[in-house]
Amino acid sequence: MVDGVSSSQDVRRVTVLGATGSVGTNTVDLIAREPDRFSVEALAGGSNAALLARQARDLGAAFAAVADEAAWPELRDALAGTGIEAAAGREAVLEAARRPADWTMGAIVGAAGLAPTLEAVRRGGIVALANKEALVCAGHLFTEEAERAGCRILPVDSEHNAIYQVFDDARREGIDKIILTASGGPFRTLSIDEMARKTPAEAVAHPNWSMGVKISIDSATMMNKGLELIEAHHLFALPEDRIDVLVHPQSVVHSLVSYIDGSVLAQLGSPDMRTPIAYCLAWPRRMTTPVERLDLAAIGGLEFSAPDRLRFPSLELAREALRVGGDAAPVLNGANEAAVEAFVAGRIGFTQIAAVVAETLQRCPTEPIGDLDAVYAADAKGRRVAADIVSVIEAGGGLSIAHAGAAN
Ligand SMILES: NC(=O)c1ccc[n+]([C@@H]2O[C@H](COP(=O)([O-])OP(=O)(O)OC[C@H]3O[C@@H](n4cnc5c(N)ncnc54)[C@H](OP(=O)(O)O)[C@@H]3O)[C@@H](O)[C@H]2O)c1
Repeated sequence: MVDGVSSSQDVRRVTVLGATGSVGTNTVDLIAREPDRFSVEALAGGSNAALLARQARDLGAAFAAVADEAAWPELRDALAGTGIEAAAGREAVLEAARRPADWTMGAIVGAAGLAPTLEAVRRGGIVALANKEALVCAGHLFTEEAERAGCRILPVDSEHNAIYQVFDDARREGIDKIILTASGGPFRTLSIDEMARKTPAEAVAHPNWSMGVKISIDSATMMNKGLELIEAHHLFALPEDRIDVLVHPQSVVHSLVSYIDGSVLAQLGSPDMRTPIAYCLAWPRRMTTPVERLDLAAIGGLEFSAPDRLRFPSLELAREALRVGGDAAPVLNGANEAAVEAFVAGRIGFTQIAAVVAETLQRCPTEPIGDLDAVYAADAKGRRVAADIVSVIEAGGGLSIAHAGAAN
C-alpha cells in the first residue's frame, strides 16, 4: 500500500462526480481504456440523463445519479433491467459521493460541487479535484477535512497538477514561489473597446483548450487565473505574494516552481486535460494516454509576458479577495458565476463581467467564514448583489471595465 492506495495488482474503485461534463467525459474515456485497472462505483451528473446512462452501462457502474429531478424518468427508463441503481436529486448526488470508493473525481462545475466534493473528502481515499470553486469558496474547510479524514487531494487543474508534480513538499523551505502560467485566453491581444463588443460564442472559443462554457469565459476574462491563484494558495499553503502569474499563449509550460537556489522546475505537455486527469487516476504510478506527444522542435519558440492588469482586472480582484480573507473569495466566486450567466444570457457585455464582480465586492462588507453554511450564505450574497447590479446595467445604468480596475 502507498498512502492508502492499493498495490498494482488491485483494481481501483472509482467514482466520477460531474461525469457528463468536459473533465468528466475525459475521465470516463481514460477509465474505459483500462477496464482491468478500474471498477466504477458511482457516476453523477446534472441533467444529461441520456449520456449518464450510456456511461453507466458502458463502465458497468453500480450507481448513477442526476441532480435534476426532471431528468429522473429518462435515467430510470434508460437503466431499467441493467441492475444499475439509479436516483435523482441533490441527495442522490451526495449519496454518489458517499458510496465507498478508493478514488473520486470532483468535476461538478461551480458552487454546486461544494457539498458533494466535501462528502467525498470526508470519506477519505483520493479525491482528484477539478472543481476549483470548491477550494476558492471553502479552501480551509476542505484542507482541514482532508487532513482529518486522511484524504489525499490531487489537483486536476493543469496548472496545479503541474506544480504538484515539481513541488518538493518534503523540503518546502527550499521553495521560493510558484508561477501559474495563463494562456491569456481568446482576447489576449484585444483592446478594452474590442473586448466590450465580444459575444458569448467568441468568448467560449478558447485557442488552446476544449472546456466547459463557464471556465472558457473565465479564461477569457482571466478570472479563471484569479480563481486558480486562490486555489493554489489553499493547495500549496503559500501566501498570495508568493504566487506569480505569467502569460504563456502556447499553454505548453503548465506552471513552474521557483527554488531559493535559482532553479526553476516546470511540467510541460500538450494542452490536453487527459494528461493531468491520467496523472491523478494512476497516482502514484503513471498510465498511458493517447495525448499527442510534445514536439518542442516543431513548436520552435515559447512566449512569456506579464499579465495586463488594466485589460484583465479580474486577476487583481481575486488577489484582493485573497488578501482580504473572510468571505471575500466566495462572494467573488458567486458574483462571478452570476455575472458570467448574465453575459451568456446576453444581459451584460463582456467587459461588464469584471465590473459587476468589482462592484459586488465593494458593496459587501467582509464577514468571517466558520462553516459550510457561512460559505453558502456568502455565495448567495455575492449572487444576489451581482444580480441587482446586472439589473441596473440592463436598465441603462452603465458599468465599465475601468470601474473594475478602480476597485483595486
Ligand atoms: N474543462 C476543463 O478543461 C477544466 C480544467 C480545469 C478545471 N476545470 C474545472 O472542473 C470543473 C468542471 O468543468 P467542466 O469544464 O468539465 O464543466 P462542464 O463541462 O460544464 O461540466 C459540468 C459537470 O457538472 C455537472 N453538474 C452541473 N450541475 C450539477 C449539479 N447541481 N449536481 C451535479 N452535477 C452537476 C454537469 O452535468 P450535466 O452536463 O449532466 O448537466 C457536468 O457533468 C469546473 O469547476 C472547472 O473549473 C475544468
